[in-house]
Amino acid sequence: MIFKNLAANQDISDQEFDKVYPDYIQNISSLHFTSVQVAKEASHYLAEKSSDVLDIGAGVGKFCMIGSVWTQSRYVGVEQRSSLCDIANNVISRYSLNDVDIINSNITDIPFRDFRAFYFFNTFLENICTEDAIDQSMPVSMELYRKYSNFVRDQLDQMPRGTRLVTYHSYLRELPESYVLKHTSSNAHLKYWERR
Ligand SMILES: C[S@@+](CC[C@H](N)C(=O)[O-])C[C@H]1O[C@@H](n2cnc3c(N)ncnc32)[C@H](O)[C@@H]1O
Repeated sequence: MIFKNLAANQDISDQEFDKVYPDYIQNISSLHFTSVQVAKEASHYLAEKSSDVLDIGAGVGKFCMIGSVWTQSRYVGVEQRSSLCDIANNVISRYSLNDVDIINSNITDIPFRDFRAFYFFNTFLENICTEDAIDQSMPVSMELYRKYSNFVRDQLDQMPRGTRLVTYHSYLRELPESYVLKHTSSNAHLKYWERR
């Protein structure tokens, strides 16, 4: 019902939405996962230009699931923690959601060429900051942070003109100079980019 209500443009609070997840995910959701409102706004912008959207570090799939019912595009989320993927895929099958896949992999194993739109919610922060981490499984390493950020920046730079990117609470280390800022919202924490 929650996804049907969302698709029908009924107001859904994050508290309501997060009930699809186990209790401990509900408790950390506001810090680590995209809110319903931000997911709607960001997916609307991304889906205008692309039928395939990649979430770089998908967590429990909240952004992808909301995007898949709010827009006409297909969403792929890549998540390195298998426990979060299992939770996401359990929700996807329980609610028979289409057009959304959450893959258990590291982002460095994913070719970006199949997508023309990307979402990035400060994905690699846990490699440089242990405060309020989802769990202790992420290695703290500036080297890894740089490696992952550089990988994403290089991949985004190779994308064709018109490729769209939304960054949320990002330090923009992953942003190539070839992307132009189109507008911002959420006190400028949410940034909408397009490749020149
Ligand atoms: C801030 S959360 C955002 C989750 C989701 N995009 C959302 O907005 O709800 C970032 C996620 O990226 C994942 N992540 C971090 N580094 C990654 C990597 N190198 N490859 C794949 N996933 C990664 C983390 O495990 C975490 O679940």
